Amino acid sequence: MSHSLKSFASDNNAPVHDAIFQAMMDANRGDVIGYGDDLHTLAAEKRFKEIFGKYIRVFFMLTGTGANVAGLSHITRPYHAIVCSDKAHLENDECGAPEKMTGCKLIRLPSEDGKIRPVQIIPHLDSIGFQHHSQPKVVSITQATELGTVYQPDEIREIAGFARKHNLYLHMDGARIANAAASLDLSLAEISGAAGVDLLSFGGTKNGAMAAEALVFFNQDLADEFEYTRKQSMQLMSKMRYISAQFNALFSGNLWIENARNANNMAKILAERIEGISSIKITQKVETNGVFAILPKEAIEKLRRKYFFYTWDVRKNEVRWMTSYNTTEKDIDGFVEAIREALG
Ligand SMILES: Cc1ncc(COP(=O)(O)O)c(C=O)c1O
Repeated sequence: MSHSLKSFASDNNAPVHDAIFQAMMDANRGDVIGYGDDLHTLAAEKRFKEIFGKYIRVFFMLTGTGANVAGLSHITRPYHAIVCSDKAHLENDECGAPEKMTGCKLIRLPSEDGKIRPVQIIPHLDSIGFQHHSQPKVVSITQATELGTVYQPDEIREIAGFARKHNLYLHMDGARIANAAASLDLSLAEISGAAGVDLLSFGGTKNGAMAAEALVFFNQDLADEFEYTRKQSMQLMSKMRYISAQFNALFSGNLWIENARNANNMAKILAERIEGISSIKITQKVETNGVFAILPKEAIEKLRRKYFFYTWDVRKNEVRWMTSYNTTEKDIDGFVEAIREALG
């Protein structure tokens, strides 16, 4: 089996953006103090404050799972519960790290589109104050969701208001927050802190970086002593300048939004080109850079001989096709042709 063509499996499969690699090369001069006490990191922190407001605290990390888990473990105690969707990366793709590292129970709410709503949380509030039950403490939402859909700002505000009323924190897994901002044509702040999020796992890696994730505390009280949690969580990078340089490149000019826009546009074009094919059913709104579709099993197998991608739900023959900052219309042309061929 040869997968020499473009991958439609994940934005993680794309190479590092040239400008980001170049920024790391440019930072690769001389000695600087390690662990974040350097000018690159200072500049990147300043960028985050320009974007999210000066009253945040930000910590750079290596992986998205690390940001989620370290952040959640810092704001919970082991007898707490974290409410999330049953499609959440936290729940499905972090190998139990959230449960292991926080000790918390994850309460998974069923979701068809990757989003959760306050009404689904209400029954779980009955546990609060009952000593035999895990105590709900955090609601975690993903923006953009694992199914490529996005929360509108008023949906986030509604969850945030609900969370506040019930003394819960709102965490946002923003591994693809840039794609969500591009889709909604809103700023990163408008769909996170300004909408009531307490804690954001901010992702750069899926948007052209090599390994650049951050935890943004909008609720500064929650950030108290987080530096110790980050270290204990093994997410404190000694040569921090290379993470910081990646953020500086993403945020210099419009690279972050251009990358996200391209990824989203390519998914939209892919969806438009296959929409009319009767043996394909697109199962989710294409709001960011993923297309979810059901097609005959034999066609999936045939197509996979040429292109690498994942089956999302084996029982339904549902696949996930993802585009990236570097996907081109020519890539889409070739992929659509291969889809048509595979369908016979
Ligand atoms: C929604 C979401 N959150 C978090 C992550 C975590 O990323 P990492 O693989 O860097 O731990 C991913 C990665 O695919 C993701 O899709």
